[in-house]
Amino acid sequence: MQRGSYTFGDSDLAAERLALVAEVFDAPSRRFLGEAGAALTESPSLAVDLGCGPGRTTRLVAELTGAARTVGIDASASFLAEATRLSGGDGIEFVEHDVTSVPFPVGPADLVYCRLLLAHLPEPAAIVDRWMTQVRPGGVLAVDEVEFIDTPHPVLARYEELVVALVASRGALMYAGPVIDAMPDGDGWQREATTLIEHLVPVALAARMYGMNFRTWRDDPAITANCSQEDLDQLAADLAELAAPEAHGGDTPVRWGLRQALIRRTGQTTQSAKGDNR
Ligand SMILES: C[S@@+](CC[C@H](N)C(=O)[O-])C[C@H]1O[C@@H](n2cnc3c(N)ncnc32)[C@H](O)[C@@H]1O
Repeated sequence: MQRGSYTFGDSDLAAERLALVAEVFDAPSRRFLGEAGAALTESPSLAVDLGCGPGRTTRLVAELTGAARTVGIDASASFLAEATRLSGGDGIEFVEHDVTSVPFPVGPADLVYCRLLLAHLPEPAAIVDRWMTQVRPGGVLAVDEVEFIDTPHPVLARYEELVVALVASRGALMYAGPVIDAMPDGDGWQREATTLIEHLVPVALAARMYGMNFRTWRDDPAITANCSQEDLDQLAADLAELAAPEAHGGDTPVRWGLRQALIRRTGQTTQSAKGDNR
């Protein structure tokens, strides 16, 4: 991956953080993927996981949909190498590609899934429209993104303020859920279900995820332009302190709002008919 192209990086630390993210969001993603698989008349012959990272979501897609072939697509060569090592084979493979560009190298799929990806891509509604050209007629796109994060703790709230600003500095919207909920149906596709679910995460676990991410981007110019090193050191120390589960086991958990949208391809789109590639 080109340096700086994915805001949260693809270092070993970033991969470790995504392993924790996979644990934290396992239950809601499983439920949603089960629903997405059930929305198809038969098991998909091809399912695609966009922005698959080290491949944990790809494994979930394969398991929950029973797809004959599941392909994880990501722009990071190092994440893809890890994904192949952890989950490659048995109908699961990985391909390097920029997901903002269509057609996908595997062609249209019966089921396309993405989790925590639209938060990093400018103009998420336009991207969804583009992705729908890569869904076979009758197939679905399943979008699993953050709608809001309601945190009881000022340290976590401060972190969230910074991360939202960082993502915005790349032209993207950390909380992409409301955009997906509000977007109109498009050329040859319609939203079938859009659900807001709430997922509670213990403060210490949220602080651990946040602390790992913070180490990755605390020296980004979009952050250092507005925060002193002293402030950043303080936030790092506060997050480390909050991450101790024994100290904060009784705290009110963080409330994550997850927007889970199922979007059905109803027919041939004008763009796919033209073989459009952006
Ligand atoms: C927050 S991670 C989510 C990973 C995985 N879906 C999960 O939920 O654990 C976002 C992933 O999207 C990838 N990504 C970001 N922009 C991309 C792009 N334009 N094309 C392909 N992959 C991209 C990153 O490399 C990263 O692996």
